[in-house]
Amino acid sequence: MTIHFQAESIGFKSIFLKYYEKNYYDSKTNKYYFDYNFMKNKEYLMESGKEALRLEIKTNTSIVEKQAKWAGIKPGMRVADIGCGPGITTSILHKLAQPEGETIGIDFSENRLEYARKNYTQKKLHFINHDVREPLEDIGTFDFVWVRFLLEYYLNNSVEIVKNLTNIIKPGGILCLIDLDHNCLNHFGIPERLDRTVRKIMEQLQVKANFDPYVGRKLYSFLYDLKFQNIVVDVKAHHNIYGKLSKNDEFNFLKKIEIAPQKINFEFNEYEGGYDEFKSETKKWFEEPRRFTYTPIILCKGTKPFRR
Ligand SMILES: C[S@@+](CC[C@H](N)C(=O)[O-])C[C@H]1O[C@@H](n2cnc3c(N)ncnc32)[C@H](O)[C@@H]1O
Repeated sequence: MTIHFQAESIGFKSIFLKYYEKNYYDSKTNKYYFDYNFMKNKEYLMESGKEALRLEIKTNTSIVEKQAKWAGIKPGMRVADIGCGPGITTSILHKLAQPEGETIGIDFSENRLEYARKNYTQKKLHFINHDVREPLEDIGTFDFVWVRFLLEYYLNNSVEIVKNLTNIIKPGGILCLIDLDHNCLNHFGIPERLDRTVRKIMEQLQVKANFDPYVGRKLYSFLYDLKFQNIVVDVKAHHNIYGKLSKNDEFNFLKKIEIAPQKINFEFNEYEGGYDEFKSETKKWFEEPRRFTYTPIILCKGTKPFRR
């Protein structure tokens, strides 16, 4: 007998995991049913020994500043950075909330928090460990809650997560959601076999890893359904890669194609030499200055109503 249960039922996951046979998509309930195995220890899809470094390297301070100012961060605000990673974005938000502001970075990875505390702790800037799939209690309420590159990892729980976060926003406070859309799926000049394989990986990530390559387009609906006001959406290019490959783009992209397929035991059926051959084909194509790759980034902000 095979017992499947809804992705949201994570409270019981350890009891039921042994009954899993396969992952599948149920068109009747419009839900993916999948194996949470790699998330047992509160690891997320991109977890690796180098994840703090990858996040630190790929964070562009002036872009984060621009995004946060667009979202409405102001001096004196109480700010929460949800899924704060190694703390670099938290420290940028903290600077923008000065003077008098207080900032809390929240992440469920001790590795990330250790890095953040070591490198970014300062007056009125703290980091705490919490899994944001669970309600946030005892941390008070915030004027500005910022969630960047987190919801993409939660195809089946993102609505619940945003609901939880709404409870920690002061009435009149701002919620800013930022994420990617059509993630890693827009390339030109890519060899056909590689293109097919990248698409298959992205499909399987949805089923096996709760990953949502299309979360960007959903952000507006999250705020709309929760009756946020003054909602504004902006769309920009995130990965916008052409010409000579920068070291940062090379490191970030190659880490993605190394870690994500491994976590779901992806089978590289079209490559006789398996992952190594796939990696060298990817690297060769990615180094080609004629290739063009982009991913749209969607920014969505709204204010929490005084009465709901
Ligand atoms: C891709 S990083 C984004 C980091 C940062 N927000 C940024 O914009 O660069 C996602 C972070 O969210 C954290 N994370 C993932 N799931 C989480 C959860 N359920 N609760 C708390 N943190 C989580 C991961 O540990 C990781 O540090």
